[in-house]
Amino acid sequence: MTLSLPITRRWFAALALPLGLLCLGTAHADDRRDMPRQVPKAYRQECAACHVAYPPGMLPARSWQRVMTGLDRHYGTDASLDAATVARLGDWLQTHAATGRHAAEAPADDRITRTAWFERQHRGIEPAVWKLPSVRSAAQCAACHTGAEQGRFDDDNLRMPAGLTARQQRAWND
Ligand code: HEC
Ligand code: HEC
Repeated sequence: MTLSLPITRRWFAALALPLGLLCLGTAHADDRRDMPRQVPKAYRQECAACHVAYPPGMLPARSWQRVMTGLDRHYGTDASLDAATVARLGDWLQTHAATGRHAAEAPADDRITRTAWFERQHRGIEPAVWKLPSVRSAAQCAACHTGAEQGRFDDDNLRMPAGLTARQQRAWND
């Protein structure tokens, strides 16, 4: 027994580092709000013309299904596509849709901007800020998230849009 202790300890040391790295790796890969590695070209061409290409993990599968079956009346505009493209992009969105607790909630109007997590992350932003000419709407992520075109929404890639009052600047990331 006395002999096995140092061996056990060495084993532990040998395993702990790779295991720790493994855990960090999976924690990141599990954040399904990141853009998947493979993005269909048609998604960037057709779904990023009027706003950024939203990461599929930001909405549950049934929201994407409603979005893709209603493109002719898409939030007050017509975003129709041919049936084959709709089917292909629809499949990809379903495959990469939100999982876990984010999948439980289908937000109002199937809007990312109406999900509980979106409202929580942006609680420091006054309603008037969304309407500034430099922002236009909460759906225009790129007004503040400089990595939005690449599907990056972390705290490190933020800029303040023009026209914030001093109070709005202070509340920015409370
Ligand atoms: C012709 C312009 C146009 C195209 C093309 C378009 N959209 Fe949109 N989309 C809009 C507008 C306008 C809104 C509402 C934005 C707002 O409220 O400010 C919107 C909103 C959305 C929202 C909700 C955003 C929110 O408020 O959280 C989703 C999701 C969405 N679009 C997905 C798509 C997908 C998927 C495609 C490609 C199949 C697509 N859009 C193509 C114009 C477009
Ligand atoms: C008016 C500016 C603005 C717009 C527009 C905006 N955001 Fe944000 N967002 C912020 C700020 C500021 C934070 C950081 C809040 C904090 O840290 O307290 C944030 C935080 C986030 C976070 C959490 C980041 C993290 O690492 O904690 C996500 C995810 C996010 N936003 C996604 C989006 C998406 C998706 C859109 C568009 C549908 C969007 N945001 C539109 C300002 C904006």
